[in-house]
Parts: sequence; C-alpha cells; structure tokens
Amino acid sequence: MTLWFLLHVCATSLLAAAAAASVITSPRSLVLWHGLGDSHSSPGMLEFMKLIEEVHPGMFIHSVFIEQDLSKDRRAGFYGNIDDQVKLAAEQMSSIPELEHGFDAVGLSQGGQFLRAYVERYNDPPVNNLITFGSQHMGISDIPLCKPNDFICQLARRAAKSAVYSSWAQNNLIQAQYFRDPANYGTYLEAGHFLPFINNEVEEMRNQTYAKNLASLNKLVLVIFTEDKTVVPKESAWFGSEEISDGKGIARTLSNQEPLSTWESTIIPMREQPLYTEDWIGLRELDERGDVVLESCVGEHMQMSDCWKDLIVEYAGGPL
Ligand SMILES: *[C@@H]1O[C@H](CO)[C@@H](O)[C@H](O)[C@H]1NC(C)=O
Repeated sequence: MTLWFLLHVCATSLLAAAAAASVITSPRSLVLWHGLGDSHSSPGMLEFMKLIEEVHPGMFIHSVFIEQDLSKDRRAGFYGNIDDQVKLAAEQMSSIPELEHGFDAVGLSQGGQFLRAYVERYNDPPVNNLITFGSQHMGISDIPLCKPNDFICQLARRAAKSAVYSSWAQNNLIQAQYFRDPANYGTYLEAGHFLPFINNEVEEMRNQTYAKNLASLNKLVLVIFTEDKTVVPKESAWFGSEEISDGKGIARTLSNQEPLSTWESTIIPMREQPLYTEDWIGLRELDERGDVVLESCVGEHMQMSDCWKDLIVEYAGGPL
C-alpha cells in the first residue's frame, strides 16, 4: 500500500530548523523497505526520506530495491519469491559502506516482515532497532472484501483463496507467501513458502539462529493502524492472528494477559500465541526484556500523517 502523507511542509521553518541543528556525530544509518504498490523511490518514499532527514540531519538513508527501475520494483512487490528478494536485499545491504557498522530499519507494511526475515536469516550488518508500520507478522487471513453485488470480485476472491497454497502461487505471488488461513492451517504449514518458516511454525524446521538474531535487536517497535481495513486482521501488525480452526495447530495458549480493548474477540493476541509462549523466534525474550514496543497510529492502513515522527525521532538515528 502506498504511503500517504497528510502534511503541509513549511519550507522556511524547516530551513531554519536545519540551520539551528548542530550535527556533532552522524546519526546511525537507516534502511527503509517500502510497502505493496510502492517502489523504492516513489514520490511518497522520496518525501518520507526528505522528512526523516529533516528530523535527523546528516542521516544516511538507503531504500531497499529489488529492481532499480521504479515500475519493475513496484511489480516486484506483487510478483516474485520473497526468499529470493530478502537474499538480494541482504547482498545489497552488505555492499553499502554506510551500513557496515549496523543500522536502524523501518519496514512499511509488507516491508516490515521482509526486514524481520533479513534480521532472522542474515543480520549482517546487524539491525539495531527494527520499526514496522502496519506489517503482516502473522500473515493475512483474507483478501479485502468485495461489495455485496460485485460477483466478478467475489469470484476472483474465491479463486485466489482456493489457489493460494498452490506451488505456483507460493513461488510467484508475494501476498500468497504470507497468507495464513486459520481454516486451512495444516495446508499453510505444508505448502507455505515463507511465513511458516520465518515464524518457526514448522516444528521440524525450527531454526534457532532466527530466534537468536531477532532477540539481538535493541528494540522491536510494532506499529498498528487503528482503522486498518486493508490488512485482515489488522492485529497482525502486533503479532495477533485469528484463532486456528482446522484443529492442526495449538489454538491458544492461555495466559493472564488482558486482551487489549481494541482487539476483536476472536483475535489471539501476541502474548497468547504459541510462537510467543514457546518462544519460537525470540519474541518473548525481547518482550520480557522490555524491548518490544507496541505503538499505534490512528487511521487506515499506512495513513502516516505525522505519527511516524516521534517514533523515528526516538528509535532511529541514535549515535553509533
Ligand atoms: C538456520 O538459519 C541460518 C541463517 O539463515 C542458516 O545459515 C542455517 O543454515 C539454517 N539452519 C538450518 C538447519 O536450516
């Protein structure tokens, strides 16, 4: 989903602020990974980078690209193999001198789970803070609803849902690779190419390196959009998911955690997920250390307005 900014930039006050800021040490570098429908240097991304430079003068910012060409890069958000894309991004990041001492990373929408995959699988150079906005850490369990009388839409939606775990879809459709259907959880575990692995959900394939690397983060900042109707369920941004209903998984691990009032009743919150309670990916270790930060932005998916600002000021660009 492309980035939306609802802001008015006052050029003169920004110039004054930049002149007043005295840069003593250069801030830690930053890596961005854009969302679906966007490209590494779309107008929205360029604007975002410009605004970040204004709050962190002198910051080096790299926007991950799969393709240099903007329309091809946009297309790569829909079509391709995520494992290959994350590998390519890892090679790219390791070749950039400004990143060699580590960096903070901001993942927008699906870019968030891709950067998490980078941390778990590569993390060389290492990520300090990982901040994800509206990401699908526990996948998506639905594609956006159709209008009641839109039969063409409904047919397409049904076809996509039934074929989502085909080998072709899992190798070629990005969104299929993080589709986590609670009514077909067994199929998801068997056929899913990306998310079941990155979440260490496949018992015999669990990789301790993933947990060790994720727990090595300084902070994991998870941002949910309160009115998100694009990501189903929106709580995926906070490692929430719908209850598994095909009997193939551990549905819920009871805990004393109060469900947050904004959560739907059928949503399993992060701290009740087996992934968390059994600590498959190091998330519990991070959280018990106080280093998982749950934040929210008011609005629809990726409606950033200026709620990004305090988070980027606080969690990005610290001293090296
Ligand atoms: C676990 O992940 C690491 C990092 O990606 C990789 O080097 C290693 O081969 C993996 N181990 C197994 C058993 O797949």
